[in-house]
Amino acid sequence: MHVKFCVIILLFKFRLAISYYHVKLTSDSPTVRGGTVHFVAELFEDGEPASGKFKYIWLDNSILIHTETHESESNVDTWSVTYPANASFPPGPYEVQVAVEKYYVLFYIHKTSQRLIFELTEHLNGKLQLTQNNEVLLGKYVSSAFPVVHKVELTKSDEEYINHTATSILTYWFVDCVYYGVSADYTFTLSYPEINKKHKLEALVVAGYEPITTVAPPTTTTTTTPTPNVTTAVPTSTTIAPITSTTASSNSTGIKVKRSAVLPSHNGILPVNNSFPFVCLSNGSVAPDTKKTYGLFSRKFISKAPVSNITVTGNYWLPKGDVLSLKVKCQGSSQFYYCKHIFEGVYNVTGNETCDVPPPDTSDECEFPIKRYFQKPQKYTIAIVIYNDVAKIVSPVTVTVYEVAHQAQLSVIVVPVASSLIAVVLIIFGVAYYVQNRSRFIVEVADFNFGQQCSDLEYKTFRERLYDSISNAFLRAPSPSSSEPNVWPPGRKYGSLT
Ligand SMILES: *[C@@H]1O[C@H](CO)[C@@H](O)[C@H](O)[C@H]1NC(C)=O
Ligand SMILES: *[C@@H]1O[C@H](CO)[C@@H](O)[C@H](O)[C@H]1NC(C)=O
Ligand SMILES: *[C@@H]1O[C@H](CO)[C@@H](O)[C@H](O)[C@H]1NC(C)=O
Ligand SMILES: *[C@@H]1O[C@H](CO)[C@@H](O)[C@H](O)[C@H]1NC(C)=O
Ligand SMILES: *[C@@H]1O[C@H](CO)[C@@H](O)[C@H](O)[C@H]1NC(C)=O
Ligand SMILES: *[C@@H]1O[C@H](CO)[C@@H](O)[C@H](O)[C@H]1NC(C)=O
Ligand SMILES: *[C@@H]1O[C@H](CO)[C@@H](O)[C@H](O)[C@H]1NC(C)=O
Ligand SMILES: *[C@@H]1O[C@H](CO)[C@@H](O)[C@H](O)[C@H]1NC(C)=O
Ligand SMILES: *[C@@H]1O[C@H](CO)[C@@H](O)[C@H](O)[C@H]1NC(C)=O
Repeated sequence: MHVKFCVIILLFKFRLAISYYHVKLTSDSPTVRGGTVHFVAELFEDGEPASGKFKYIWLDNSILIHTETHESESNVDTWSVTYPANASFPPGPYEVQVAVEKYYVLFYIHKTSQRLIFELTEHLNGKLQLTQNNEVLLGKYVSSAFPVVHKVELTKSDEEYINHTATSILTYWFVDCVYYGVSADYTFTLSYPEINKKHKLEALVVAGYEPITTVAPPTTTTTTTPTPNVTTAVPTSTTIAPITSTTASSNSTGIKVKRSAVLPSHNGILPVNNSFPFVCLSNGSVAPDTKKTYGLFSRKFISKAPVSNITVTGNYWLPKGDVLSLKVKCQGSSQFYYCKHIFEGVYNVTGNETCDVPPPDTSDECEFPIKRYFQKPQKYTIAIVIYNDVAKIVSPVTVTVYEVAHQAQLSVIVVPVASSLIAVVLIIFGVAYYVQNRSRFIVEVADFNFGQQCSDLEYKTFRERLYDSISNAFLRAPSPSSSEPNVWPPGRKYGSLT
């Protein structure tokens, strides 16, 4: 009994010794000063989520140290710390640590710990998202054919912070150093029709904390809020309020910011200080109002014309043995990438066809040939895939290859049939002609004086007839009338002399 107990204890200790604990620590920083940083600790035992009862001891290294201890039966623990935007918490890197203890019967035993660097920033964190046709643009190109929706996407913690604290959140939009207006919903839409032009988009988010007496932008649609005492961010229409010069004398920092952006040079209103990088002021910056929170986001891109107007010319309809030769042309901005997929029979393109396999050919001009020899006489569909940096088109072409032998058979049938037809037509014509001219034949027959002639032939002997003809010749000769046609051959009269 005693031995058994000892073995169990030993096994238990052994297990204590060999189990490998690991805690994974993450945070959602960078976070703007004033915001809340969320830390997450995930505990693993031999690579698997740990189970048991744990103690998580949290600690950060700010000047006014934060610490907290959580007892939990979960292997995941979170800690949220709000760092006030005051001198005690200057922006910069900080460190957080978590130590994990596991509970065994009577007491906690330290298992593992982890440290993580996180960052508090002066300005709002996030990114500029460009969307076209509901598609998020990841590259540096925009299509010249569609408007671009620009949106500032703040990190969740920063958005949460200003959602809860700010009384106004406005975004000022600049394209190529030109001020385009202000919006309250972080979004702005603009088209870039000029092809192959570089653009720089900048967005300045300004969160103000003045009491709710702030002026709403001019095109405010008064939304009926059920709780009027809640000081939310200014509810405004999504339209961009254009800047007006009448606001020039105002001391509002936001408006000063606008002016400074519109006028690219120093105009005296804004002292240029290097604490805030600012839009288009040559190496300039804006002295920020310390009572506001700013966020500056920028993105560069190039507008390009999408692939369009594909035309395909060539011999779609070819006899077996001929080589298909098509010419494809299209319009748009270079560089073009293209490939083709050949399907037997009629194929409905899905638009999902890609040029992944095989890799596409490239060209600066959208003009290229397709040559191909087809074995089998049948229909084929060629899906031509062309794309450039901003658009893709899949264009199907149906090609028919026919058997040449079919034509020979055809002639074998056609020629006899045609010949027969011609023969029939000729016969009909002949009969018709005969019927039409029958009466004339009859008249002509009646004109012949057979009787006389026959009697002539009957009663005259050869000699008599010879005599007749000779005498006739001699009788006519001296008096040839002009009406009488020339007798042929002319030598006939002389010949009769002999
Ligand atoms: C900053 O805020 C914290 C929490 O409100 C406060 O304890 C601390 O005294 C403040 N520091 C300064 C310099 O105001
Ligand atoms: C902030 O407020 C906006 C609208 O008022 C809301 O759409 C958004 O979800 C809020 N974000 C957070 C993180 O609370
Ligand atoms: C708004 O006012 C009502 C009473 O007028 C009050 O009960 C409520 O707590 C207030 N809400 C806030 C967020 O101040
Ligand atoms: C603007 O601010 C200056 C000092 O910063 C002050 O002298 C002036 O009276 C203010 N003007 C208005 C219109 O508030
Ligand atoms: C500019 O910043 C410096 C410190 O960086 C400060 O001493 C100076 O007063 C600031 N100037 C203005 C006009 O804010
Ligand atoms: C702006 O900065 C660039 C280098 O970053 C410098 O070459 C240029 O002279 C500066 N311009 C002004 C007006 O300070
Ligand atoms: C494409 O073709 C249409 C009509 O055929 C024409 O109106 C349009 O201008 C063409 N597009 C381009 C980019 O040339
Ligand atoms: C192609 O689509 C048409 C109508 O959209 C359909 O009638 C036909 O059956 C489809 N053909 C194939 C091969 O899927
Ligand atoms: C095209 O691809 C998308 C995503 O890969 C898929 O959801 C869709 O069903 C595809 N469409 C067709 C017609 O295959």
